[in-house]
Amino acid sequence: MCGPRSRAAKPSLEFRVKKIVYVSRKTDAARRDPDHVRHINELALIRNAGLLVTGALVATENRFAQVLEGPNANVDTLMVSILRDPRHTAINVIRDTPIRRRTFPKWSLAYVGPSTYVQGLIQPMLAEPFTTAQTDKLVRLMREFAREGG
Ligand SMILES: Cc1cc2nc3c(=O)[nH]c(=O)nc-3n(C[C@H](O)[C@H](O)[C@H](O)COP(=O)(O)O)c2cc1C
Repeated sequence: MCGPRSRAAKPSLEFRVKKIVYVSRKTDAARRDPDHVRHINELALIRNAGLLVTGALVATENRFAQVLEGPNANVDTLMVSILRDPRHTAINVIRDTPIRRRTFPKWSLAYVGPSTYVQGLIQPMLAEPFTTAQTDKLVRLMREFAREGG
């Protein structure tokens, strides 16, 4: 039996949204290009908007962390590109989960800039293994310090 209530509770495939969080290590290719974050951002803002993906990127001296949220298939498409990008390596997906609400609904890709405060809080976290609580904390800090642009 399948009443109206249970049908309503099942979201259609198109609207299944998930969040991926990963951390990675910059390669020399990234470090050699002083504008690598800007280059990533310029393309990401356009491509993510087209894919209905939102999220945030943090870049420290040696590492990246990124949150991506959007329709399952679109996030996965983006991850195929990101995983083969030579600007980073040791990509560690620390969260891949369905979500009901986005953390960054207004940002195609928010950038968490290199302020001393941000770096002081986030940089040490990125070198450590991640527990669920630390992943939550990372996303919270990224949300707190997110701003537009790169
Ligand atoms: C750390 C990092 C984060 C990235 N984030 C995004 C992103 O959010 N959106 C995007 O379109 N490209 C992003 N890119 C760039 C992609 O890896 C890729 O170069 C770009 O999407 C073009 O895809 P293609 O190489 O499959 O043509 C990112 C690259 C790096 C190194």
